[in-house]
Amino acid sequence: MPYNTFGMDVRAKVVAEYASVEELTDLLKKYKGERLLAVGEGSNLLFTKDFDGVVLVSRMCRARALKETDKEVWIEAESGLKMDNLIEQLVDMNLMGMENMSYIPGTVGASAVQNVGAYGVEAKDVIERVETIEITSSRTRVFTNKECRFGYRDSIFKNELRGQYIVTKVVYRLQKEGELHPERLKIDKPHCTVADIREAVIAIRKSKLPEVGELGSAGSFFKNPVIRPEHYQTLSQQYPDMPHYVQEDGIKIPAAWLIEQCGWKGKKQGGAQVYDKQPLVIVNADHATPEDIMALAQAVCDSVQKKFGISISPEVNYI
Ligand code: EPU
Repeated sequence: MPYNTFGMDVRAKVVAEYASVEELTDLLKKYKGERLLAVGEGSNLLFTKDFDGVVLVSRMCRARALKETDKEVWIEAESGLKMDNLIEQLVDMNLMGMENMSYIPGTVGASAVQNVGAYGVEAKDVIERVETIEITSSRTRVFTNKECRFGYRDSIFKNELRGQYIVTKVVYRLQKEGELHPERLKIDKPHCTVADIREAVIAIRKSKLPEVGELGSAGSFFKNPVIRPEHYQTLSQQYPDMPHYVQEDGIKIPAAWLIEQCGWKGKKQGGAQVYDKQPLVIVNADHATPEDIMALAQAVCDSVQKKFGISISPEVNYI
């Protein structure tokens, strides 16, 4: 099955594509009672075994401007459109808001489920609302940004409502003018444009992250953990160089650093490998099986727990 960027050799009972909401609702009728899984590009999934059900793939790929004021434009994009294709168009139109998320693999639909993010910006910062179809009733339900309960790589669609709704459209709110966020991007220009930001982000991502289609992965495998300030205080005495970011809910520590300190950078186990340029990423180095990936991920978690007393958890969704 091609719909997983990890390149796992797994099978589903059926893979069905739809190009409109009507086609989707027809499929929901046809496959009523089956186990269903909606995927975009499968860039954040790990199939742990064959999938005993129907994989639904959105081929709804249009985008259009819904309304416009002096300062803002509302863009409605369909779920199967690749995020980066959308961002490329927005940058060409000089619209601001999503440029820091350039070159993230995955589709518009997945961006809302996963609340993807990069370089200080998350999908939730630009999402106005999310249109969905309820699987049991085939009825449309629109979620406001607040109703999506976005969190770090998280939303209501991954939790309370997991497996109950399929995202069909996302409305984003973009700015015609305003502030760019080049802070984390080392751009050497006094007045940078959205296009400069996009270019810088693409260059960084290409240098650190495996290219989809060339080397199997699902981007960051783990989330960056947030620990209690007291825990950080204790650890920082032993590891004064430990990078850390103060958050509302505690202190965020880069999992990449923790994993590197445990000696995992570039290490191979079975067909799976901790990526040498970014240890937060696990790659399918050589015909890895789902078991290889899971075993390596578990070994990494165990050693971070043992050395630092920090529990790191996967960002990737296990299916
Ligand atoms: N680091 C190391 N060793 C390394 C690489 C990084 O110690 O080899 C440490 C450094 O301290 C560095 C820090 O990790 O400053 C952060 O690294 P980076 O800026 O590459 O970001 P990240 O925290 O590892 C997160 C996201 C990425 C996103 C980048 C940029 C998560 C789980 N990952 O990674 O998202 O692109 O920030 O904003 O939050 C994804 O979710 O799939 C993803 C790639």
